[in-house]
Amino acid sequence: MTHSTLAQTLSALALVLTASVACAQQDAVAEQSKKIAAGAGCFTCHTISHQDSKDGKLPVGPAWQDVAAQYRDKPGAAEFLTRVVLEGSNPYASHWKSKAAGIAMPPNAVAISESDARKVVYWILSLK
Ligand code: HEC
Repeated sequence: MTHSTLAQTLSALALVLTASVACAQQDAVAEQSKKIAAGAGCFTCHTISHQDSKDGKLPVGPAWQDVAAQYRDKPGAAEFLTRVVLEGSNPYASHWKSKAAGIAMPPNAVAISESDARKVVYWILSLK
């Protein structure tokens, strides 16, 4: 093996290692966020994955994959959604009519801290 192929092999190996470390970190973030969300009661009204309505019934809150698709590319989305999670949504602006029941979300500040809310929101926005 020449010196340059060895260097190439090593840098390829480093890339693979970095990628798998990043993956493991993402898994850890997902696990932690799910735990926080479960503890705060978010799953009473939300699911993670989009589900087609059965018998024309829509979920209470929008699936978090739908939230991600709607907000992912919007600047300031994470801060906006953190405030919505803590303080509740505007009852006069139901933007989930076709995907959720169309009611407002009550404030969750009694159930979740601001830093946990932000953590969960960042994870929600990463869902595909
Ligand atoms: C009592 C039911 C309920 C609970 C509990 C609940 N949500 Fe919601 N959530 C809703 C509803 C309903 C909406 C849609 C609000 C709207 O369209 O105005 C919503 C919307 C959202 C949105 C999108 C907001 C937007 O402006 O589009 C996010 C993000 C969210 N919820 C996260 C959470 C998190 C995180 C928790 C737990 C801390 C939580 N929700 C707990 C009912 C709930």
